[in-house]
Amino acid sequence: MAAPAAGRGLLAAGPRPGLDLHLLQQLSPPPMFPAAPKTQLVLGSPGPATVAPKDVHFYDFLKPWLGDGLLLSAGDKWNSHRRMLTPAFHFNILKPYMKIFTKSADIMHAKWQHLVTEGHTHLDMFEHISLMTLDSLQKCVFSFDSNCQEKPSEYIAAILELSALVAKRHQQIFLHVDLLYYLTPDGRCFRRACRLVHDFTDAVIQERRRTLPSQGIDDFLKAKAKAKTLDFIDVLLLTKDEDGKGLSDEDIRAEADTFMFEGHDTTASGLSWVLYNLAKHPEYQERCRQEVQELLRDREPKEIEWDDLAQLPFLTMCIKESLRLHPPVTVISRRCTQDTVLPDGRVIPKGVICLISIFGTHHNPSVWPDPEVYDPFRFDPENIKGRSPLAFIPFSAGPRNCIGQSFAMTEMKVVLALTLLRFRVLPDKEEPRRKPELILRVEGGLWLRVEPLGASQQ
Ligand code: HEM
Repeated sequence: MAAPAAGRGLLAAGPRPGLDLHLLQQLSPPPMFPAAPKTQLVLGSPGPATVAPKDVHFYDFLKPWLGDGLLLSAGDKWNSHRRMLTPAFHFNILKPYMKIFTKSADIMHAKWQHLVTEGHTHLDMFEHISLMTLDSLQKCVFSFDSNCQEKPSEYIAAILELSALVAKRHQQIFLHVDLLYYLTPDGRCFRRACRLVHDFTDAVIQERRRTLPSQGIDDFLKAKAKAKTLDFIDVLLLTKDEDGKGLSDEDIRAEADTFMFEGHDTTASGLSWVLYNLAKHPEYQERCRQEVQELLRDREPKEIEWDDLAQLPFLTMCIKESLRLHPPVTVISRRCTQDTVLPDGRVIPKGVICLISIFGTHHNPSVWPDPEVYDPFRFDPENIKGRSPLAFIPFSAGPRNCIGQSFAMTEMKVVLALTLLRFRVLPDKEEPRRKPELILRVEGGLWLRVEPLGASQQ
């Protein structure tokens, strides 16, 4: 998740020394608030970000909600939890989630069909897709179906409210002080929503512990894994460190809440923007559609299987190019643990906090000619040869990169493929205005026109 502050003074990171910083400042999304309280510096090369720890200051407002989960923890705790949680994203665990992604997309598309029949052809992608990603996550993390896409869910509403409140608080500098914030109506709402979300997670953990057999937990969970019904809570209950010590209930709650938070808005932003880019480029949209139709020809029901994911090369290029042009997380922050020498000889002293602009890196004109142009062929295997792996970092890089990257790419491919198979997307009259909050959003929502495709066109 992004470090939210991106002041004008922010120097964008680029894979090449000697960047035109003035240009990159112009290209960076507008600042959300004037200045962060600590020294900020810009990295000329993103290399050091792969080793330096995160700066916790920017994440403080999330702490009461997410506790010491992976995103916010540091040092030995993070190290040991990262190792314990990595198996949760193994492809054997992810594979069964394909059905969940398909089901959640089916529900969203049924809603779209219904809305179109009622004459509502303009839809806010962010609104619909965020609900869909939350629906999927709730099923993958807790095996819980709240039907949140069809009827209001208190829990889901609380997560949406918490995300919005954190973004709002970042913009109001006088509310950065806890004492003041919790006296305001927003602060009280934040407390209430936090309590609701924690109660939900605690209840699932307690229930799961109660139904676990007192003996042979490992065998019980392994049998569940074999039956492909393992959710993240099971994996968190199953995991043990080198000394055989498992996670406490509090740790499990923090990790589960972190997945719910980190996984929904980011993926929804990624999917909304790729639909926007394909709406603006009907020729690429059609080529993706043909690729999906070809793949699913003669198949009923039309479901994407795990092995199909590698058979959608053009669709994958379109997603990557969209993540370049519109990275869901625009900025991250790191603290230098040692003096860091930049390629041009300048030194960033130890202790300085650096903001690394993913947005700026992805718009560096010396690496990405005509950076504002949406061109999926930049990711053609022929064209990526020789490009630094740090030129494209939507999921960050190094040991603290996104642990949910495969989960997100899988969900985006499944949902995009099914969406293009069933709908044509067209741009709205008004151009969206980028709004970098915790993630890259759009002022007033990302509105597109959707046109259902008849069975013969699918
Ligand atoms: C398109 C979707 C996604 C994008 C663009 C994205 C991007 C990122 C980025 C840039 C970071 C680094 C943040 C930092 O250093 O401050 C990160 C970290 C993280 N992400 Fe994602 N993410 C996505 C989806 C997900 C999903 C689906 C999950 C979980 C289900 C997830 C879980 C996490 C966690 C737990 C971390 C913290 C990792 C650590 O510090 O060890 N993300 N993500």
